[in-house]
Amino acid sequence: MSDPSALTSEALAAIGKAQTEQELERIEVEYLGRKGGRVSKLLEGIGKLGPEQKASLGKAVNEAKRAIEAALAAMRAELEASRLADLAETEAIDITFPGPPLGRGHIHVLTQVRRQIETVLESLGYQVELGPEVETEWYNFEALNLTVGHPARENWDSFYFNSQLLLRAHTSPVQIRAMQRIKEPPIYIITPGRCYRRDAPEATRLPYFSQVEGLAVDKGLTVGDMKGTLLYMIQSLYGRDRKVRVRPSYFPFTEPSFEFDVTCGICGGMGCKSCRHKGWLEVGGCGMVHPQVLRNGGIDPAQWNGYAWGFGIERMAMLKHDVDDIRLFYESDLRFLEQF
Ligand code: PHE
Repeated sequence: MSDPSALTSEALAAIGKAQTEQELERIEVEYLGRKGGRVSKLLEGIGKLGPEQKASLGKAVNEAKRAIEAALAAMRAELEASRLADLAETEAIDITFPGPPLGRGHIHVLTQVRRQIETVLESLGYQVELGPEVETEWYNFEALNLTVGHPARENWDSFYFNSQLLLRAHTSPVQIRAMQRIKEPPIYIITPGRCYRRDAPEATRLPYFSQVEGLAVDKGLTVGDMKGTLLYMIQSLYGRDRKVRVRPSYFPFTEPSFEFDVTCGICGGMGCKSCRHKGWLEVGGCGMVHPQVLRNGGIDPAQWNGYAWGFGIERMAMLKHDVDDIRLFYESDLRFLEQF
């Protein structure tokens, strides 16, 4: 039978040589195991000893136990640290490491402006109505009094798939579609959407752009109703200090027809470089719906009349944010987009 201090030295030597945590576990069982552990075995003959010898053996065994436990704990910590250090070197990706924060996107400025327009007009009782971007010649032109060979068709020169099918040049065809779908006035709709024209890209024009059309069909509507509605919309979007005006114009689908202007936000109507010293910026056309257009939509012009407008959404966004080049909206330059 070995004595406690010799056994302790033997255990510490074994612990010092251990390479893995599993080995340490085996050593722990061998020396400190409750049953059959070598340290416990030291106590086997203790019953035969006298009280003094009993006490000193007990003390020596406890010391041996504590010394071995401490050595095991120290070695375990060392092995664990080196295992983690190895892992950091051999594992290329630490899946527990927090990733870089994702940049949060936000809604495009044109979508923001479109939604603001929708919100204002919905509060007046208008409903959003959508139409196809690939349109028939009849809806895009014919039904709007732009008969074949009409010289005004040149203003809405579009991209044709064939003689019957084209990319719509304005949102006005949705006037007809809405009248056909709803059938019974009163009709109060707005129709936002993409339009296409054969224009070369420049600061104020693109071959693709968006419009928001409005159509009201009811009894006894006047130019005053239309102007009031549009004034309310403009002041809701740009502030109470904006003024509006209508100028006589011509569209085959409205009679009378107007161009619709808003005072320049930069100079407040005094005239400056960005409004070309006019004090006013044009946002689109409007007018009282032509009786033939009502008829083409299936509505009796003897009973009903209406007004309509078609404004460019990019124009409206330019007015709101003082943007001077329409191309910026589509260039996906984050330095531009993140401003809104
Ligand atoms: N559709 C016309 C355009 O694109 C605008 C407009 C709409 C004018 C409705 C009058 C009434 O230029």
